[in-house]
Amino acid sequence: MLIAQITDCHIVEPGGLMADRVDPAVGLRRAIALINALDPQPDLVLATGDLVNDGSSAQYDNLTAILDAIAAPLLPIPGNHDDRSEIRRCFPRLPVGDPDDRIDFVVDDYELRLICLDTTIPGRPDGQVTADQMAWLDHQLAADPDRPTVIVQHHPPFPSGIPWMDRDCGFTGAQLEADVVRRYGHVEAIICGHLHRSMHRRFAGTVASSWSSTAAQLVLDFRDGQPRYTNEPAAVALHRFSDGALASHHVPVVDADRWVPGWAEKKSDSALTHPPPTGFGKPQRW
Ligand SMILES: [Fe+2]
Ligand SMILES: [Fe+2]
Repeated sequence: MLIAQITDCHIVEPGGLMADRVDPAVGLRRAIALINALDPQPDLVLATGDLVNDGSSAQYDNLTAILDAIAAPLLPIPGNHDDRSEIRRCFPRLPVGDPDDRIDFVVDDYELRLICLDTTIPGRPDGQVTADQMAWLDHQLAADPDRPTVIVQHHPPFPSGIPWMDRDCGFTGAQLEADVVRRYGHVEAIICGHLHRSMHRRFAGTVASSWSSTAAQLVLDFRDGQPRYTNEPAAVALHRFSDGALASHHVPVVDADRWVPGWAEKKSDSALTHPPPTGFGKPQRW
């Protein structure tokens, strides 16, 4: 099974800028082009929150117009910049509810079972999991303990080491989550966004990761400075489940040359020349 992940797309209105400088549509379109050219195609594209910048209807309309280009099924979860009503409007397969109802759900259609947790707190940049939410997670993990499972959430359950981010945009409930996850041996990974950087950490017997934004990255600065962005490349994460284990790849979205070195010239270069995939059906959106 192959999962492509995009995160923190921060789409604004057409022609607008994010953080005064970045057109977030550019990185997202390039990420989609990279994903659509994958062979084999991913079984699923995960969009792990902060899909738009301010939660407005116009931004969601622009987002969905761009995402319609994705050939594979798309599964979104909310981040702190998202609006629960708007994300439900745009992705009608998400569980229905009031704005106060978290969008927690399980996807059972694939080799890997996905448990999606809504870590957002409406109106706030930081995230949390609650005791009742972790009781639900416990119940879900206990329901199918032989099936490899991935937990998907926007806010990572670990600090970034970037002081302003951890102070203003951090996470509450990491110990609650760890106490549940530690009881099971089938959680392959906890896949997150939010930190606008790729980082990976051991967490309660599994691996928790945040992945790079398709829009802009945060400056990696362990001193207590002010928020700053950097135009380090946007990226897509590719999570490949094979032989009973998940291997996760960080793939920058850049114009990168490929070449065959002299020592390999006589070998087949078919892997470099396969044609783009064709024949996909109508895009499926959650
Ligand atoms: Fe973000
Ligand atoms: Fe976020």
